[in-house]
Parts: sequence; C-alpha cells; structure tokens
Amino acid sequence: MDSDHQQAKHVAIIMDGNGRWAKRKHLPRLMGHQRGVEAVRKLVRSVEDMGIDCLTLYAFSSENWKRPEDEVGDLMDLLRKFIKSDLPEFIAHDVRLKIIGDYKSLAPDIVAQLEDALEQTSKGSRILAVALNYGSHDEIVRAANAASAEGAITAEGLEKHLDTADMPPLDLLIRTSGEVRLSNFLLWQCAYAEMSFVDVLWPDFTPEHLQAELDNFAVRERRYGAR
Ligand code: FPP
Repeated sequence: MDSDHQQAKHVAIIMDGNGRWAKRKHLPRLMGHQRGVEAVRKLVRSVEDMGIDCLTLYAFSSENWKRPEDEVGDLMDLLRKFIKSDLPEFIAHDVRLKIIGDYKSLAPDIVAQLEDALEQTSKGSRILAVALNYGSHDEIVRAANAASAEGAITAEGLEKHLDTADMPPLDLLIRTSGEVRLSNFLLWQCAYAEMSFVDVLWPDFTPEHLQAELDNFAVRERRYGAR
C-alpha cells in the first residue's frame, strides 16, 4: 500500500439481511441465521491478512429481545455453539474476544461461557468485538453516569467509560442488506467514521466484499472537519 493510502484498523459491521436471505430461498429464518454465522466465521478467518486490528460485529441488539421468543432462543443457541466451536481457533490465531453491550443480563450459562472465552483469549493481539445486548444509547448513558461520578463530564472523560474504551478509533462502519440506518449502533464512535451501505444480504457477504470496502476506504479523504 503506498503512503497516501490509508489502512482501516477498526471495522464494524451491522450484519443485516439473514431473514430476507432465508425468505428469498423459501427456507426457515433459522437457516438464514445459520448461514450468517458461517459468514462471520469466514470473515474472522480472513481479517488476519487484511491488516485489520479490530473487527466489531453487531450480533444482538438490546432491541432484538422484541423478536419472537423462538427466534431469540435460536440466536442464543447459535451464539453458544459459535463460541464453543471457534474458541480454539481464536486462541490459535491470536484473537482477543471482547464483548460490548450489557452482556451480563444474558442467560447465566452464556455469561459464564463468554467470561471463560474472554479469559482464555485475553493475551490475543487482534480484537474480535461482539456486540451482545448492545444499544448505543444505553452505552452512552452508562458511560455518562460513570464519568459524572468523576466530576464535570468531558468528551475524553466519557469516552474512557464506553464499552469500546480500549479499542482503536472506528475507521469504517459497514451495513449489509441495503438498509441505510445505524440502528443504535456505535453512535458516539461513528462521529468520524467512514460509512458504507452494501447491497448484499449478510449470509452472502464474503471476505472479497470486505476487501472491496477496504480498498474504497484506502483512497477516501478523511478531514475530521478541517479543509
Ligand atoms: C440480521 O438479520 C441479523 C441479526 C439480527 C443478528 C446477526 C446474527 C448473526 C449473523 C448470527 C449470530 C452471530 C453470532 C456471532 C453467533 P435479520 O434477521 O434482521 O434479517 P432481515 O432484516 O432480513 O429480517
């Protein structure tokens, strides 16, 4: 990469379109989510070679509890299976798992499983952050309360208490499925992020799609308000 090309270090993805993928194929929604996990797995394997230090994935929002109980149960089961099957691979590939969001109110067995995975991957150098029971308003309110206990709130003071505090600044946010909205995801962190809304349903999103977005990012001019 030449010197005026920039490398995205922190990429976040709103993985949207599992349901529509399944519907188009006349398959149950669960199969859309299952294929969605496959897409996650392929991507996590590929980011190592793409120069990304931190990949953040929106897996379950604080609003997703409003979905039918059986779909919520399916998503939680997929999460259990994903962590169980892929943890050894995270460890082998220097991945540090991070959870953002209020994950402690998930089922106790999942909380225990996640905390074990956090512990076992704590030495990894590349971050895979999974947003679980995550909502940006909730995150900012929690951070603001913690910051106010330290005196007058400043941007820097609040940032230290965000769930993303020890992660690099967000460079690029991608949303799949053609929808153009943020859905309460990383609102604070998006202040200077580049954004890309891709017309591909999540189960069809491949490492090649991600590489194309990184190539676009590499030549974008980021001015942070300056001229
Ligand atoms: C959006 O599809 C996707 C989700 C609600 C959750 C994303 C979950 C996964 C990719 C699988 C679980 C992930 C892990 C890491 C275990 P949608 O159902 O909103 O699709 P639709 O808008 O087409 O209905």
